[in-house]
Amino acid sequence: MSLKLVGKRIVLGVCGGIAVYKSIELLRILVKEGANVRVIMTKNAKEFIGSLIFEALSGNSVLLDLFEDKHGGTIKHIDWARQADIVIVAPATANFIGKMVNGIGDDALTTFIMAVTSPTIICPSMNTYMYQSKAVQRNLNGLKKDGYYIVEPEVGELACGTKGTGRLPEPEVIFDKLISYISKKDLKDKKIIITAGPTHENIDPVRFISNPSSGKMGFAIAKSAERRGANVDLISGPTNLSSPIGVNVIKITSAVEMADKVFSCSDHADIIIKTAAVSDYRPKNQAFQKIKKDIDEISITLIKNIDILQELGKRKKNKQILVGFAAETENLDQYAQKKLMDKNLDMIVGNLIGASNAGFGSDSNKVTLFFSNGLKEILPEMSKDDLANIILDRIVTIKN
Ligand code: CTP
Repeated sequence: MSLKLVGKRIVLGVCGGIAVYKSIELLRILVKEGANVRVIMTKNAKEFIGSLIFEALSGNSVLLDLFEDKHGGTIKHIDWARQADIVIVAPATANFIGKMVNGIGDDALTTFIMAVTSPTIICPSMNTYMYQSKAVQRNLNGLKKDGYYIVEPEVGELACGTKGTGRLPEPEVIFDKLISYISKKDLKDKKIIITAGPTHENIDPVRFISNPSSGKMGFAIAKSAERRGANVDLISGPTNLSSPIGVNVIKITSAVEMADKVFSCSDHADIIIKTAAVSDYRPKNQAFQKIKKDIDEISITLIKNIDILQELGKRKKNKQILVGFAAETENLDQYAQKKLMDKNLDMIVGNLIGASNAGFGSDSNKVTLFFSNGLKEILPEMSKDDLANIILDRIVTIKN
């Protein structure tokens, strides 16, 4: 669940377009993220889909008609507009956009939208020719000038059989844009390198040495940093995670490859965050063919990989901020503080492996932050998404 949406009052406006099925999924995501969502449907939306599904998923009654919305002597479309923290219209049709930009209110949604003063996101979706028409483009520019945030439609197959711009983006993409839009931009234009995931150190073409790192922590930090305005390079070992929207993902396999990529761009980075669980050793020799099991005992000689973070600490530029992670099985404070000093870091995020719901593979984590000024902060267990934002909050306050 995202801290950003917990308890937020969101109004979802739904117009009549084929993409209406995506607004159901969007509603589900918003509710899952802790928002209290109210839905307003146009008459045409009702032609595509019944209101019951929105009512069941939101847990609130759906507003359909301007003249049936009196409750307890108040007027719903005005009350909802005054109470909304965020408004999102998806899909928004050409007709709705035309009315909105011209201040025409002839149904519940268009009348409601005129009374809204909170951040409002409009997601147009229509046939390509309609979208590219002078009227729609003029109207969308008008909405932008009026300060509305437009989520541009995507290119793809459209229900009418044509291929072009006009598709409503997937609900996850709209959700991501919404979070970006309401996020503070305290990392605007900062260049951030984040490493994530495990490394694979090959023994032969089908076997490798690795660890159970899922990459979730690094991906969560990359996603949050991008939403907060940063320009993010995410250098990741093998994971099953999908690339965060707007982040430049660079995939690597081994520690040697990770080191190469990190050092090639580290000089220009304002902030480097090393969540990756880098293999400390790699096989000295890699077999070119699969090793056969024809002998009872084999030994593999391992040689040390470069400590990427320690090297970054040596090369550290003025004002560059370096953050490391330390996963320990014992003596967390002692080992984390030693790594903080030895690697010349500004902050290290330490966690004890083995704690339930924390660490490798889990969606949550329980960590202690150690700072170069000697302070430490013990954080409660929380989701990796929330932890990502707290780590970034602390980084923003570090002054070098
Ligand atoms: N790290 C790195 N390069 C390595 C090993 C570790 O950049 N070859 C970084 C990790 O990304 C992490 C930090 O150093 O941010 C600490 O990693 P960790 O594995 O906890 O500790 P090590 O320094 O490897 O020490 P040890 O394994 O002895 O605990």
